Amino acid sequence: MVRSLLPLGAALLGAYTVAAADIPTCSLTQKCPEETPCCSQYGQCGVGAYCLGGCDPRMSFSLDACVPSPVCESKIYPMTDLKRVVDVGKYLGDPSTADWVAQGEPLLYNGNVLLTMPAHSVGTVLASTTYMWYGNVKAKVKTSRGAGVVTAFILLSDVKDEIDYEWVGADLTVAQTNYYFQGIPDYQNSGNITGLSDTFNNFHDYEIRWTPDEITWLVDGVVGRTKKRSETWNATANQWNFPQSPARVQLSIWPGGADTNAQGTIDWAGGAIDWDSADIQNYGYDFATFGQVEVECYNATSGPGTNLHTSYTYDDARGTNDTIVDGTKGTVLKSFAGTGLNMDAGGSSGSSASGSSTQTASGPAASVPGGTASGPGSAPGQEGSGTSGDGSSSAASSAACQATGFSQNCGGSSSSGSGASGKSAGVRVERTLGASAFAVVVALAGLLVL
Ligand SMILES: *[C@@H]1O[C@H](CO)[C@@H](O)[C@H](O)[C@H]1NC(C)=O
Ligand SMILES: *[C@@H]1O[C@H](CO)[C@@H](O)[C@H](O)[C@H]1NC(C)=O
Ligand SMILES: *[C@@H]1O[C@H](CO)[C@@H](O)[C@H](O)[C@H]1NC(C)=O
Ligand SMILES: *[C@@H]1O[C@H](CO)[C@@H](O)[C@H](O)[C@H]1NC(C)=O
Repeated sequence: MVRSLLPLGAALLGAYTVAAADIPTCSLTQKCPEETPCCSQYGQCGVGAYCLGGCDPRMSFSLDACVPSPVCESKIYPMTDLKRVVDVGKYLGDPSTADWVAQGEPLLYNGNVLLTMPAHSVGTVLASTTYMWYGNVKAKVKTSRGAGVVTAFILLSDVKDEIDYEWVGADLTVAQTNYYFQGIPDYQNSGNITGLSDTFNNFHDYEIRWTPDEITWLVDGVVGRTKKRSETWNATANQWNFPQSPARVQLSIWPGGADTNAQGTIDWAGGAIDWDSADIQNYGYDFATFGQVEVECYNATSGPGTNLHTSYTYDDARGTNDTIVDGTKGTVLKSFAGTGLNMDAGGSSGSSASGSSTQTASGPAASVPGGTASGPGSAPGQEGSGTSGDGSSSAASSAACQATGFSQNCGGSSSSGSGASGKSAGVRVERTLGASAFAVVVALAGLLVL
C-alpha cells in the first residue's frame, strides 16, 4: 500500500534524463507498459534493477517481466566487512557475487555494519540477494535512538507479504512486531515485546521463525510472540491473510519522524525527528548497528517452502503459496537494459551501467529504482572503515560519510564519474496510521534536502 510516493525527480537520473513525469506508476489495477514492464517495490515502472528484488509480478506487464528470484540459501552473514554489500546500481542478480544490495550509507564500525542516516536524509537499507520461503532468520541488532528515528529488520516479499521487527528510537525497551499479507493495510496486527534492556546500547538477538502454520518472534532465544495462520482467516477473501511468499531480508534505518511523513507516521515514530541531535552533531548521522545475521532455510521436500532449484517465480497473480514455482530459471541480467522478458538485453557489462537510466529502443527508461550514487569500485563504506583503532574512529565521523562518495547529505559529491548525480536516493517508509508498518519506499533524498 504505497499511498503517497514522493515524486522521483531528475536528481535520480544518470546520463539520460528521465523526467519524473515520464516514469509510469503501477498498481494492482494499473500494470506497467511493455517498454518498462517491471513494477518496482516502490510502485514505478522500469527495466534493469526494477525487475530484480522487489519487482511485483502482479503489477508488472506480465508475471514473467520480473526476473526470477534466487532461492533460499542457509547462511551466516558475519557483517564484519562490506565486501559482499553492493550498491543497487551495480547488482545484476547473481547472488554468488553479493549478499546484500544497498541503498544509502552502510559503513563499517568496530567490526559491525552501521546503517547510517545523515541529517535530512532518508536513511539506508540493505536487502538480501536471496529469498526465504519460510525458515528462520536471526539478527544481532543495536537499534538507533531518538524520537522519530526508526530501525527495522523485516522480511518483505515481492507481493508484499511482510514480517517485521521495528524499533522506534523514543522507546529503547520495546521491539515492535508485525506482519502483513500482500500489503493489505490491516493495522490490528502489531504486537510489542517489552522489557528489553536498552536496545541502543545492547545487542539483542532478534529472530523470526516462519512456517506455513505460524510465525514466532524470539528475542534472545525467548519467545516474545506467536501468530498462527489459523488465526488469520479472511472470510471475505476466502483465504488466509498470512505471509506465505518468498521474501528478502531487509535491514534499515529510516526517518519516521521526518516532517514530510503523514502525521500518523510521525506520532507512531515517537515524534518529529531532531536533525540536530547529539548523534548527528558528534558523528554526522543517526545509526543502527548490525552484527551477525543468520538465515536457516525451511526444509520442505515439496512445496510450499522448498529451495530445491535456482529461482522462485509466480505462475498466478494471486501470489499465494500455491502459485510459487521453485524452478531452474536464471536470475542474472546481462545489463541494466534487461528485463525478465529479455534477460540478455544490452549485453555489455552491468558494472558500467551509467547512473540509473538506460537507453531502450523507445527511449530512456529508468533502470535503478530510487537511483544510485555510488560509482564503480566504490562500494559504500569500503574505504576509511575497519576494525583497526584508526579506522574505527574515522568511521564514526562525518568525514567517513564523505569518503564513501555517496552524498545523501554529507556534502561530498559522487566521485564516480558514472553519470550518477551524487544526489542519491534513500529509503522512506510511508505509514498512514499509527501502528502500521509499511513497505519501504525509496524516495529522493534530494527532494527532502534541497
Ligand atoms: C507498543 O509500544 C509503543 C511504545 O513503545 C506504543 O506506542 C504502542 O502503542 C505499543 N503497541 C501495542 C500494540 O501495544
Ligand atoms: C479481507 O479481504 C478483503 C478482500 O481482499 C480485503 O478487502 C480486506 O481488507 C481483508 N480483511 C482484512 C482484515 O485484512
Ligand atoms: C500454504 O501451504 C500449506 C501447505 O500446503 C497449506 O496448508 C496452507 O493452507 C497454504 N496457505 C497458507 C496461507 O499458508
Ligand atoms: C533445516 O535443516 C538443517 C539441517 O538439518 C538445519 O540445520 C536447519 O535448522 C533446518 N531449518 C529449519 C528452518 O528448521
